Amino acid sequence: MKIGFLQFKPELCKPDENILKVREIISNCKNSYDLLVLPELANSGYLFSSREEALSASDEIPGGNFCRALAEISKEKNAFIAAGISERAGDKLYNSAVLVSPNGDIDTYRKTHLFLDEKVWFSPGDTGLNVFEISGKFGKVKVGMMICFDWIFPESARTLALKGAQIIIHPSNLVLSYCQQAMFTRAVENRVFTITANRTGTEINGDKELYFTGKSVIVDTKGNYLCTAGENDETIMIAEIDPEAALDKNVTAKNNIFEDRREEFYF
Ligand code: ACM
Repeated sequence: MKIGFLQFKPELCKPDENILKVREIISNCKNSYDLLVLPELANSGYLFSSREEALSASDEIPGGNFCRALAEISKEKNAFIAAGISERAGDKLYNSAVLVSPNGDIDTYRKTHLFLDEKVWFSPGDTGLNVFEISGKFGKVKVGMMICFDWIFPESARTLALKGAQIIIHPSNLVLSYCQQAMFTRAVENRVFTITANRTGTEINGDKELYFTGKSVIVDTKGNYLCTAGENDETIMIAEIDPEAALDKNVTAKNNIFEDRREEFYF
């Protein structure tokens, strides 16, 4: 199975430009893939200064323009596409991720652990951390979604792994410097593959400024970094994996990371 990320710099509050840029990067990539992950808030950018601004760049799932464009790309490429989306649902906004399948199905995850001013613009996610089965010429594979800062809570990846995720899809807008290294641990402690699709660039809005760290990574079940992007690259990187490796939870002949858990000592 071929899995990848698309790293780019979304423009703040310009969803139409952002989908054009995504399309351009995709059309410049000659390699195929079965699953491609885009960054968090790929439609909207990140550093809003008002709720009106946040609303103006949001999309409805599944009928919004950005989602429909992702569905078209998924069909054209015969690949599953996951992306972070600023989601409008009634009078609420969520920091969400969608998983779009070539047959048009869309699954949604709403970010559980909001970071900084996301708490001002977005409602806390209400979907919980769920696993979805995807299928294709690569067979049947279980994938789970978490978004950016969810990584710092080990419970996020652990919940997805305990629910059977073989691959963790991780759209991100990382500003702290730890995550790309920490994904080694999330992958190893759960024996799963992880795809962290980060964004690049600096966003400035009024007197606010944020720098995003790029360096998207794909990590395998034993902590090998299969792909690492540059800090500022706008690119697609792809790794070929055997997702069945994530079904083997034995770290040694006598240690199974799930069966050896001592839940009576945890709280
Ligand atoms: C983050 O959760 N966007 C840092």
